[in-house]
Amino acid sequence: MHHFEYRNGRLYAEDVDLAALAREVGTPFYVYSEATLRRHARVFAKAFAGADPLVAFSVKANSNLAVLKILASEGAGADVVSAGELYRALKAGIAPEKIVFSGVGKTAEEMQAALEAGIYQFNVESAPELEALNAVALSLGKRAPVALRVNPDVAAGGHDKISTGRKEDKFGVSWGQTRALYAHARALNGIEVAGVDLHIGSQIADLKPFEAAFTKAGQLIADLRADGCAITRLDLGGGLGIPYGDPKEGGAPPPSPEDYAGLIKKLTAPLGVRLIFEPGRMIAGNAGVLVTQVLYVKEGEGRTFLIVDAGMNDLIRPALYDAYHEIKPVALNETAPEKTYDVVGPVCESSDFLAKQRKLPEFSPGDFAAVMSAGAYGAVQASQYNTRPLVPESLVNGDRYALIRRRPSIEEMLALETAPDWLA
Ligand code: LLP
Repeated sequence: MHHFEYRNGRLYAEDVDLAALAREVGTPFYVYSEATLRRHARVFAKAFAGADPLVAFSVKANSNLAVLKILASEGAGADVVSAGELYRALKAGIAPEKIVFSGVGKTAEEMQAALEAGIYQFNVESAPELEALNAVALSLGKRAPVALRVNPDVAAGGHDKISTGRKEDKFGVSWGQTRALYAHARALNGIEVAGVDLHIGSQIADLKPFEAAFTKAGQLIADLRADGCAITRLDLGGGLGIPYGDPKEGGAPPPSPEDYAGLIKKLTAPLGVRLIFEPGRMIAGNAGVLVTQVLYVKEGEGRTFLIVDAGMNDLIRPALYDAYHEIKPVALNETAPEKTYDVVGPVCESSDFLAKQRKLPEFSPGDFAAVMSAGAYGAVQASQYNTRPLVPESLVNGDRYALIRRRPSIEEMLALETAPDWLA
């Protein structure tokens, strides 16, 4: 459920008219709905009410400071994967004891920053990373609270590129090496073994892979305890899918947070562990849209191209994952005939598209369109390719709106570059 709805044929973000906002901010831009973000955070927390889990929002999905502040005020923690994300989370007011640090390539500097901040947990993904963390912790006179991220070898996720829990994926400690690495970790003075972690993929649309992986995790915890390892936490990662309105989804919505929670409660109740979650998309995905303006309608050979001012540098998901995003006119015209378009951006790549062979109401140059479900992995994956300014982000709350990241000027974009003296 989200707060982007038509009122008298005009698309609103909460009580803000998107066409008016588009004229104010200039296209392309992202707009997030605060009410939707809060609603999703509450739905997730409510599904686990009574269990006292740590819900650590996966900052990579949407790392805007204002978004993080909203989620912090809902009690969320943060799942971070870099010193930059750690800095953002702390700056947004998220307490260090609600922060977990994931990722296969943490540097010694990043480990140090996180140890000094006093984060809740490092999710360690390999033997050499464990050694490195031990060394950094010892040099600071600290012990790093650790969960080993294990790879359960379960296939899951909406696309090959976002599946992370198969043995051929770079993530997690191989299943066969897990017990030995835990035993080794216990012997390290800079490491405090606290838990087990796994994350099997993203945009997971059914419960089966979760069930397979979490069942294995439960067995592992029993084995580790039998080995004498005190496991008190279980981090189940993120990955719950959201509806994108893709006809290929077959109309079946992804599992509800309630069903997901029901399964997890059933599987984990006997374990007596504190649960940790790292949801990203489920919180932010449907809380944002990308607003773009039609520049030209180009009639090709057997194709009509709707050329809009948002490109793959602003929203890369269709180009990178063949992702489906619903596209809606900002002003509905009930009498407009339907046409089939390739919706493409201005970037000089054939992969620069937002939709292919999509039936849409007829658009004309100057019309605004909303690319839906773009609140997660949208702005965060934007680039300045083709020297296009990083796309701005705005936030609505009722009838108020604010720009939460402005568009840089071209001068600002070039400010970090210098030519060496020999070119003077
Ligand atoms: N935890 C870890 C360790 C992760 O790697 C991820 C996502 C999450 C949590 C959050 O997963 P979520 O709940 O959002 O599914 N850019 C891709 C998605 C990449 C996901 C990467 N990891 C996309 O646009 O579909």
